[in-house]
Amino acid sequence: MGPGGAGEGEVMPPLTPNLSPQAGRGSGFLRLDRLDKHFGALHVTRDVSLDVPKSEILALLGPSGSGKTTVLRLVAGFETPDSGRVVVEGEDVTRLPPERRHFGVVFQHYALFPHMTVGQNVAFGLESGSVPREERAARVAEALGAVDLAGFESRRVTEISGGQQQRVALARALAPRPRVLLLDEPLSNLDPTLRGRTRRELKRLIRSIGITTLFVTHEQEEAFELGDRVALMNAGRLEQVGSARELYESPASRFAAAFIGRSSVVPAHWEKAIGRARLPGGAAWPAAPAGDLVDGSPVDVVVRPESLGFATARNGTAAEGRVVERRFAGRETYFAVLLDAGVEVEVLAAPDAAQVGWNVFVAPAHGGPSPRAYPRIAGVE
Ligand SMILES: Nc1ncnc2c1ncn2[C@@H]1O[C@H](COP(=O)(O)OP(=O)(O)OP(=O)(O)O)[C@@H](O)[C@H]1O
Ligand SMILES: [Mg+2]
Repeated sequence: MGPGGAGEGEVMPPLTPNLSPQAGRGSGFLRLDRLDKHFGALHVTRDVSLDVPKSEILALLGPSGSGKTTVLRLVAGFETPDSGRVVVEGEDVTRLPPERRHFGVVFQHYALFPHMTVGQNVAFGLESGSVPREERAARVAEALGAVDLAGFESRRVTEISGGQQQRVALARALAPRPRVLLLDEPLSNLDPTLRGRTRRELKRLIRSIGITTLFVTHEQEEAFELGDRVALMNAGRLEQVGSARELYESPASRFAAAFIGRSSVVPAHWEKAIGRARLPGGAAWPAAPAGDLVDGSPVDVVVRPESLGFATARNGTAAEGRVVERRFAGRETYFAVLLDAGVEVEVLAAPDAAQVGWNVFVAPAHGGPSPRAYPRIAGVE
């Protein structure tokens, strides 16, 4: 059991915004520069700027409807922004039609042509392009080889597995040797087991080609496993861009904190002098403040399960509650604890640390990322 709680004098440093360097710096191979797009009255992307270095795999993560596909379509050229630019290798391609950008695209619901063979599907992207007829067979073979489907040319797409179909779609996008690869939830058609395996294969494949890739997903696990960096979107805006670890350990916003990983949200009041959040029951939790919080103002403390522990006795950081649920997860167990203040929190501890029905003390534990205090926004759950 972790006694939990930092020393009384310990004040957490304030959060620093963690957005990537904005466009204008010019270092990126692919640059999105302040992209704005409306569909009628709906403001779908707002001021989206990203710098993607050569050969990086960048995951664009966010909830459904946050504008991920729209960003990808703006980059691909299937939509035109109201304002802002798309720049590749220093070339402004914002007004170029998709086929002149030389990007490979795999859509959210990639459609293979069922009446065609694997080889005909892969050759499809070469037919309208500049690849001479006599070179096409070699290109198809090259692309199929890259996705580990060498020799599959004459197979029917209806007679191969889902994972293989996904790779055919990828080969079709890669055959013209694009300079940028754009993927929109390319694994969403696969069942969970196949998705995990295909994800790892896909990462190895993109790495081996070394192609700069922008990849859309609404699944955190996928973004974390595939992305060198993750760009988190919310309601058309980029909330944060960084490594998986940065997003998990130093979320730049309440949204990022709650969207990434497991967490509990505890309403409290900020006590500026001691740098702690005062819970309704009286416990004062050390927390990293998001920005300059006003003394006494209402805050939401967002805390990871591994950042909470059971305290053995009543002390300044211990909040009282009752264990209402126990979820075994291998080496450790998640305990749902209903605090006397009426809020439920999740605590990660050893399986024998407590039983359902026990009265316990919950306090911030050493080890996990520090709890974070955000200004409370009315109406946000
Ligand atoms: N062509 C369009 N016309 C009007 N509204 C659109 C159009 N395309 C998208 N939208 C709206 O724009 C918003 C963002 O859509 P978008 O497809 O970019 O979201 P997304 O993040 O890709 O979501 P999902 O995870 O569900 O695929 C949504 O509210 C959607 O309804
Ligand atoms: Mg989408």
